[in-house]
Amino acid sequence: MEIDGIREVALRAAKEAGAILREGLERTRIIEYKGDKNLVTDVDRRSEEAIASLIQRELPGHSLVSEEGTRLEGNSGYRWFVDPLDGTTNYAHGYPCFSVSIGVEKDGELIYGVVYDPSLEELFTAERGEGAFLNGRRLRVSAISRLSNALLATGFPSDVATAEENNLDHFAKFIKRAQAVRRPGSATLDLCYVAAGRFDGYWELRLNAWDVAAGALLVREAGGRVTDLQGQPLRLSAPRIVASNGQIHDEMLRVLAANA
Ligand code: IPD
Ligand code: CA
Ligand code: CA
Repeated sequence: MEIDGIREVALRAAKEAGAILREGLERTRIIEYKGDKNLVTDVDRRSEEAIASLIQRELPGHSLVSEEGTRLEGNSGYRWFVDPLDGTTNYAHGYPCFSVSIGVEKDGELIYGVVYDPSLEELFTAERGEGAFLNGRRLRVSAISRLSNALLATGFPSDVATAEENNLDHFAKFIKRAQAVRRPGSATLDLCYVAAGRFDGYWELRLNAWDVAAGALLVREAGGRVTDLQGQPLRLSAPRIVASNGQIHDEMLRVLAANA
């Protein structure tokens, strides 16, 4: 069965990449700047190379889009979205909040996701219709029903200093309305934490497909809700995302829609 092969390759890729990240943390990282505050390290590239070559070798015909530029075009209908190191700024500083994210879609629909945090050895997985898991244990979103009791997470784009759409206006509103708001620095782990009930909600603007593909499936499969900022279906081509336990979702959408 195709999904068995996908699961096996995705898990192997996530573990191999996780080992590269863990090993890279022990030594000096080579850091380059893609933009003013947008970093990339040699480890991002080595992780991407390991994941892409495994997929190419084991699953020829599968397409792949990965953050540091690797592209594979196949005609099988399967497309892999890979963030070889989500949380690069944290990583470059040795702050242990980062992950590998691998999401797979078939004919435009997300079917499998794996996110691996090598620091805590937490492996998050989800399969469409089969649930979401952390190290094999089934996940369920939280039961918090009011925004005022909710712990939220968010993030900001690397061009926050100059971009018009910088999320600071939404952040200012949520920090007053929610119990608290965190900015951990790995979008894909933020989503996994919503799935695990550690966060009750998360929103972020201007992400990429590789940041959200695996995590969005995890949230849905854990019983949560994922939309764009208007409550419409998430578009992987230009993700603006709200992910929550479902219960506080409409309240979050109302805050995002308000002008004041
Ligand atoms: C970043 C992280 C961060 C989010 C940024 C992303 P990267 O990804 O997920 O939490 O706020 O928008 O670009 O660059 O570390 O892969
Ligand atoms: Ca990322
Ligand atoms: Ca990245």
